[in-house]
Amino acid sequence: MLTDVHTHVLPNMDDGSQSLDMSLEMLTRLHAQGVERVVATPHFYLHREPDPAAYLTKRQMRFDALVEQQLPMELRLGAEVAIEQGISDLPQIRALAITGTDLILLELPYVPYQSWMEQEVHAIAVQQGLTPVIAHVHRYLMWYSQEDLETVLGWDAIFQINAEAFESFRQKRIVKELLKRGLPVLFGSDCHNLSDRRPNFDSLLRKAKPELLQQADRLFAQHILSYSTAQA
Ligand SMILES: [Fe+2]
Repeated sequence: MLTDVHTHVLPNMDDGSQSLDMSLEMLTRLHAQGVERVVATPHFYLHREPDPAAYLTKRQMRFDALVEQQLPMELRLGAEVAIEQGISDLPQIRALAITGTDLILLELPYVPYQSWMEQEVHAIAVQQGLTPVIAHVHRYLMWYSQEDLETVLGWDAIFQINAEAFESFRQKRIVKELLKRGLPVLFGSDCHNLSDRRPNFDSLLRKAKPELLQQADRLFAQHILSYSTAQA
């Protein structure tokens, strides 16, 4: 089952979809591209959310409005959680994980690497029993040194790759390195709209080997299974 683990398809939630119609069109396009499972991952920035409970309520409302429309695929809730100082202490952090899994999509900051970032990711994993999924790990070349990137790739985490990585020579090199090392990966479109950040699983399907996508889907399914077993 092809899974898009990184999307901004919830209507009027963040800088992604701006209407219910746009959300439905984005999902329709993903479905036409063969995607059968989508995770909605609206941005979560701790410093912009004085009341995280209100964020969760709003997200649930947007999700419910979308699911009411009889979607052609499975839709799960998640969030793209920005790594900021103190994020691992957020009482609601587990509610930001992808529903029915122990996976949490984490976005590293676009600033030079600092060791507190690792401490936050590590604390989320260890204290909360969650598996970090590092969002579009190929995007940090401008900010992180090779050595910093090595540090990140050494984390006990899953690495998420955007379809766009295959379009860039430099970003593709990181993807190749991840795969050469056999590191666990998941894929996403990170779609925000119908134009410049459109649902682009089609381009991923053209560039990535089918085995790679199957492997990613097995990995996602394993995390559903291990979560449901742990809950039983
Ligand atoms: Fe995103």
